[in-house]
Amino acid sequence: MNESTITEADKRFFHRNGFLIKENALAPEEIGVLRREADCLLNFLMSENVDIMKDLGGIIEPIPCGYIDPPDSQMYILSKKAYTNIRNRITEEPDTVVPVLFGKIPALARPLFPPETRDNPLCLFNEQYIIKSPKTSSTSSFAWHQDSQYMDPSAQKTFPIISCWVALDDVTISNGTLLIEPFPKVSTGDPSFAALAENPLDNIESYLQYFQHLASCYGPEMDRDKAMAEVKAQKLTRGLEGTRHGNLIEMEKQEYHNDVPQGEGAGEGSRGICRDPYVLVEAPAGSIVFLSGFVRHCSFGNASSTFRRVFMPQYSIGKVESEDGGLISLAVPCSDHLHG
Ligand SMILES: [Fe+2]
Repeated sequence: MNESTITEADKRFFHRNGFLIKENALAPEEIGVLRREADCLLNFLMSENVDIMKDLGGIIEPIPCGYIDPPDSQMYILSKKAYTNIRNRITEEPDTVVPVLFGKIPALARPLFPPETRDNPLCLFNEQYIIKSPKTSSTSSFAWHQDSQYMDPSAQKTFPIISCWVALDDVTISNGTLLIEPFPKVSTGDPSFAALAENPLDNIESYLQYFQHLASCYGPEMDRDKAMAEVKAQKLTRGLEGTRHGNLIEMEKQEYHNDVPQGEGAGEGSRGICRDPYVLVEAPAGSIVFLSGFVRHCSFGNASSTFRRVFMPQYSIGKVESEDGGLISLAVPCSDHLHG
């Protein structure tokens, strides 16, 4: 089934946990278009003797990767029309990727953001294929990170971003999927959380305050290899039952402390917090994992004998600038015009 709408329950889940899995969000023909482009770029790079894992860390950016000549002008960074023209030079099937990149995927991401405005439109911020070569389990894993950490601190506080991790192959623990640590569930008694949670979508500022508050409640990172070993062991011993929100992995009930006040009766403003279950993403091709820029995640290496392909556009509300006013990456508005 092509499940392609975001419900109110989906929104609440995303705002509380920092991620959302939509299974089968893309139609088979849309998956096909992206797969063919990924293969085309991959074949080109391999023919140029590029080792995609060693040289590129598995990340292929369609426009700068060398498949097409560098654009004459930088206009494409800011203009959907210019971007579309260049983007259509990559695929052999013009106007097939663009409707997914500027239509289907941002339409799903849009309700998870604060409302866009004329001054702060929904923009394509970045796009990349993340490809893991076969039999690279020791080299194709990614450490724990939050995607917003790649932006400078001022931009993190000013512009919300969401990464849309689109599985182009069925993703499993064996071929390099994601492990997500949802936002900690520590805040129900926290007065600042209650105030922020009332209307976090109202505007960019309160939305960012809300997400940053939840992210500030994370404990120390659990050792990544230990977490992965634990996931594998649990999968082996009890066979994980997937839900539409992923496989829940009970981590050890390790208590940690943070400095966030926890409301009445919390003593000196610090108390032990148990880790919530982690989420192992196992989903069919065409599924999208929406990741807040603030949610912590890592990924497994690819132990299988085939390539694992993911397409990951990222979107922002507003044109993401650094403190000195320079653009950090792309800032291509997804709509030509905003009315009203
Ligand atoms: Fe990431």
